This record gives sequence, structure tokens and C-alpha cells, in this order.
Amino acid sequence: MHFCPAYPKPRKNKASALLMFFSARRSWLDALYERSYRMQMGEVHLPGMDMYMVNEPALVKRVLSEEADAFPKSPLMGEALQPLLGDSIFTTNGAQWKRQRDMMDPAFAQARLNVAFPVMRAATQDMMERLEGLPDGTEHDLEEEMTHVTADIIFRTIFSVPMEGSDARRMFEAFARFQAIAPRLMLPSLFGMRWLVWPWDAWQSRRAAREIRGLLASLIRPRFDAHREGQPAAGTDILQAFMEARDPANGMAFGFEELVDQVAMLFLAGHETSASALTWACHLLANDSGVQERAHAEVMTQIGWREAQAGDMKALDLVRNVFRETLRLFPPVGFFARQSASACTMRKKPVREGATVVVAPWLIQRHRDLWTEPDAFNPDRYAEDASRESLRQAYLPFGMGPRVCLGAAFALQEATLILACLLRRYRLTAVPGHEPRPVGRLTIRSANGVRLQLHRREATA
Ligand code: HEM
Repeated sequence: MHFCPAYPKPRKNKASALLMFFSARRSWLDALYERSYRMQMGEVHLPGMDMYMVNEPALVKRVLSEEADAFPKSPLMGEALQPLLGDSIFTTNGAQWKRQRDMMDPAFAQARLNVAFPVMRAATQDMMERLEGLPDGTEHDLEEEMTHVTADIIFRTIFSVPMEGSDARRMFEAFARFQAIAPRLMLPSLFGMRWLVWPWDAWQSRRAAREIRGLLASLIRPRFDAHREGQPAAGTDILQAFMEARDPANGMAFGFEELVDQVAMLFLAGHETSASALTWACHLLANDSGVQERAHAEVMTQIGWREAQAGDMKALDLVRNVFRETLRLFPPVGFFARQSASACTMRKKPVREGATVVVAPWLIQRHRDLWTEPDAFNPDRYAEDASRESLRQAYLPFGMGPRVCLGAAFALQEATLILACLLRRYRLTAVPGHEPRPVGRLTIRSANGVRLQLHRREATA
């Protein structure tokens, strides 16, 4: 019997569009109903808003990949993120996006990943030292810890310095405020009900965004000016790679504001998602001692107590599969929204120009007809031939097509390392009576945190 983590029980029947909206405001997972996990395509219609939810693999492929130009990113999602991310690669479309992608791709090439590994290891080591300070068997909020370590990793990868001191703390706090408010701005936009956005929320979000951008700009400015003046490179970090990037069409570099946009986006996309997935991975491991012991044994065989190297990550098959299975059950980006650039048909239904088309990994990866035991935590399924088809058709935690996640390899490397270091030193157990409650916000998080007990391996051996 595999462990099946709890998640919001879907309603029996579809709610009215309005009720759906109000449920989604709390958490969009609450707006789902039983058929959402079986249907090929669903629809929601409100005055001035048509939304289609596509689950059918062929249709998903058409929207995200084959006809990606006909389904650009919906501006509705980007609106809420605009004050922070400006015109970043995450929200732009067309030629502007293509130029940014061409300029940013090299910063994520394999060679850069090898450069990033020691940075990941140093930040993970700091996390392990923080944990050493806790009494053995202590109850700890893993969500907070994973947010800290992943933010630290992406910060060091961008700027070559650890995230510490009062400025870093201020930025961290401002990001947390921004993230908490973002869904309250995003959902009304998505449902065409902007009038439901509280001016207080909009103001708070803009204020947090200004604060974060100000702090980032103050870090970027001296490096940007030095680079312009032709001074030697201060490091081999992502900021340096972005400053050296040139538009293949005209040789132009990123301007200062655009650079701040990309860095802000990278900081957000680079830690919020990984932190969410790593937290759920710990929850799953704590509730399946069999898988946890096997993963611990794998780490001890492949690495033991020596310092982990980039090349070791490839040998950690089970640890990697634990993370892949976590991304299936708790995809951090639970849904993405596109817009139909022109009128078209989907499953023989007419779709008007401007309609919103939603693809939800949360639904597709738990789809009743596409997976066996869809709600069960079974990392071994990735080693089975029987799952090949499900994986090929219905597994897309990093998206698909030209807009596929730029940091997927980075995230996999970082997660495998963090989980390996945790597993070799600690045995994770669930806290009796504490059941994390998944909620769909900017990413899939727990409404009540993820508290686990950490037992030191030597102490319990
Ligand atoms: C487990 C961790 C992560 C997950 C699940 C994830 C997921 C995603 C998904 C689903 C998209 C596409 C969204 C869409 O099509 O609308 C995306 C885009 C993106 N991600 Fe990630 N991501 C993760 C980590 C990262 C990291 C660590 C970075 C950077 C270091 C990153 C950078 C980006 C960027 C730049 C894009 C925009 C690509 C484009 O539009 O061309 N992500 N991510």
C-alpha cells in the first residue's frame, strides 16, 4: 500500500461560476470538483469571460507546443506580477519574449550548472548547520527552512554572495508579503472581476514590489556601472552572464530596468517553486518510512559522509524519483493560463478570440484515466515500463513547448542535493495530529505549514 497524501476533497458536482470564484479566492484547489479529474476539457463562462480548462494530452500539446504562438501567455496572470517583474521573460510574449529567451538561455547551460553546484553545496551546508543547532527529534517547520535555503541558493547564484544581513532579511520579508497578496490580485483578473481587487491589496503589493526592486537595483547598479565602464568581471554568476548577454539580432545588451526585471523574476521563480516542491517531498518521505530508508541507503552507498560532487547527483536514482513523484503530486506551478489569440475550435467547440485557456498539471498529473493509482506516492513508477505512456503524455511540472521552464535542470540538481544531505543526516517523521493542508496560491503550499520531526541518524542508530 502506498501513502496517499491528503488534499482538498473535490466537490461532488460543479459549482456555479460565482461560487467557484469565491472558493478559488481562498485556494483554487477548493474550486475543483470530481469530474475535473476525469474530464478532457471543462468550461466556465461569466459575463465577459470564457475559460477553458484542458486536460486532454493532445490538446495540451497543441496549446503549449504545436500551436504555442496561437496561445500566448494570458496577460491576466501577468497583471498581478507586473509591479514586481515588469517585462520579465515569465510574462512577455512574441518577439520580446524570444529575444529575452535567446539572451538568457546560455546562463542555464550545463557548464553553468557545474559552476552553480559548489554554490548550492555551500548554501545547503549552511542549512545543515542551522539544523544542527536544533535539539535532536525536534519539531521543525520545513516550509520555512526550504524557503530559506532555496532563496539563499538563487541569491548566491545571481550575485555570488550569501543572502544575509538586514537588507536580505528585508527583501525576504517583502517577497513573503508580495507572494501572500499575489493570488488575491490574480484570481479576480483571471475571472474578469478586477473590481473585486481590494485597493488596499493592490497598494500593499505595489509597495512590496517597490521595496524589492529598490533593494535588487542597489545590488545590481554598481556591477552594471562597472561592466559598462569595461572593468573586469566580478564573478561568474548569473548577473554577469545576463550583463554579457547580447541580442543576436542587433548585439544590444539588457538595459538597467530590464535587467532588474529579469533578476526579480529569477529570484521569485527560482526559489518559490523549488521550496514548495522540497517541502512536499519531505512530507511524503516522512510518511513513507520504506522509501525513506531506501533513499537513505542509496545516499550512503553513493556518497557516504564525503563531500557531495556534481557528478554524484546522477547516481541518486531513487532520490531523484522521489522528487519527480513529488512534482507530479504537488506541482508547484499548479496551472498556467494562456489566451486564444484568435477564434478557434477545441474538441469541436467554438472558442472566441481572447478566451482564457488553462492547463493544470495539478489535474493532468492526477487524472483518473491517465495514471494508475493517481493519488499514491510511488517513486518506483518511474522505473517501470508501464508508466512510460503516462509520463510521456501527462507529466509536465516544468511546462512544455517553447515556454518550458528555463531552470528545470537547475531545480533538479539543487533538489537532489538538498534531499541527499537531509536524508543522510536525519530521519524525518510526521508529527502526530499535524496534517498539512494543500492550498493553491502562487504555488501549492500548505495552509498550516509542514511540521516534521528531525531525528539525527547517529543518535537513533
Ligand atoms: C521545482 C522547481 C520549478 C518548477 C516546478 C518550475 C516550473 C515552471 C513552469 C511550469 C514554467 C512554465 C510556465 C508556463 O508555461 O506558463 C516555468 C517557467 C520558468 N521557470 Fe521554472 N520552475 C522551477 C524552478 C525554476 C528555477 C530554479 C528557475 C531559475 C533558476 C526557473 C526559471 C524559470 C523561467 C525563467 C521561466 C520562464 C521561461 C519562459 O517563459 O521562457 N524555474 N517554470
